[in-house]
Amino acid sequence: MPAYLKHGSIPRKRHIAHRHEPGFRNEGIYYEEVVTLAGFGRAYSICYHLRPPTRVKKVEPAGTLAIETVDEPALRHHHLRTGRLERAGDPVLDRVALLANDDVILWRCRPAERQRDLYRNAGADEVLFIHQGKGTLHTMFGPLPFRPYDYIVIPRCTTYRIEFDEDRPADLLVIEATGDIRIPPRYLNPDGQLRLGAPYSERDLHGPQGTHVVDREHDTTVLIKDGTRLTRYTLASHPFDVVGWDGMVYPYTFNADDFEPLTGTVHLPPPVQQTFEASGFVLCTFAPRMLDTHPEAIRVPYAHSNVEADEVLYYVRGHFGSRRGVEEASITLHPRGVPHGPHPGTIMASRSMTRTDELAVMIDTIKPLSLTRAALEFDAEDYPYSWLD
Ligand SMILES: [Fe+2]
Repeated sequence: MPAYLKHGSIPRKRHIAHRHEPGFRNEGIYYEEVVTLAGFGRAYSICYHLRPPTRVKKVEPAGTLAIETVDEPALRHHHLRTGRLERAGDPVLDRVALLANDDVILWRCRPAERQRDLYRNAGADEVLFIHQGKGTLHTMFGPLPFRPYDYIVIPRCTTYRIEFDEDRPADLLVIEATGDIRIPPRYLNPDGQLRLGAPYSERDLHGPQGTHVVDREHDTTVLIKDGTRLTRYTLASHPFDVVGWDGMVYPYTFNADDFEPLTGTVHLPPPVQQTFEASGFVLCTFAPRMLDTHPEAIRVPYAHSNVEADEVLYYVRGHFGSRRGVEEASITLHPRGVPHGPHPGTIMASRSMTRTDELAVMIDTIKPLSLTRAALEFDAEDYPYSWLD
């Protein structure tokens, strides 16, 4: 989790009255809400509302966000040219799912509209990778500004509205994780601090900037997603009525350009680029970096067979030294069981290079990923043959 953070007005001790006169119904207090992970066993935050956060006026089914996966007749590499994705719809309801297993769903999103309802994912953490766009994530924890190449990590059950600056069309990769998004434990020292030598530090993780109290006693709808089901809740007041909070559960950003890459004398494997992890997958950042320094080093990755992982790369920016034919917003899926490696010509082309400007996001999953029917629209069918001259 990110470091302990505190904003706004909180009482001296947990679970004591936080005085506020006259308060809702003259009760004279702010209302505590404890947001806790793993039952009551792991990280938590404590928030103080103007009104009880539990006042529900209506619960209605609101459909599903079901995804349709396909049974592929053959095991093969895929190249999804998602740069062709049409701009359409709402930033949470009109995402396009492309790859999925029980642990993770990868969506692309190019919204054309503003977010209609407040939204809350009850069953999964979300990481929004901001390929393009700039704006603010609004939650009860306060405004969280974001910019291009930010990962926005949103813990499950965070009600949010994402707003993009109008002049910056948004383009997102969304990673929906069934398990909690975690900082890799090996990056933390026994005192819980990011180690010296970890590829980022607490200074690179940015939480909400202060509180922003929305004091509105009127019906407010929140769409709650749990699995594929959507439920519309009508609350008696706005849920962003928090005057203060503290804790370690809150949305935060980390910018991919703040990742400190390592370079060896010869090629270092992707775990050195790991950024986050969750049950069933790791997320890595291939950031601009110096290339390997040994005079005889091969400066693109060796061919490899992912014996027990499916490997997804999302190409963000720059020239990707080991690939031909990929473009910005391309996604490749290299499944287990079939080797992949540098494309013909790239070994020679990289020989005199000293650094790479590539930026890419990698997701390696333990369980196999399935393509969705929507993904087939972007699939370059000749990609498995792209290693021939
Ligand atoms: Fe690979």
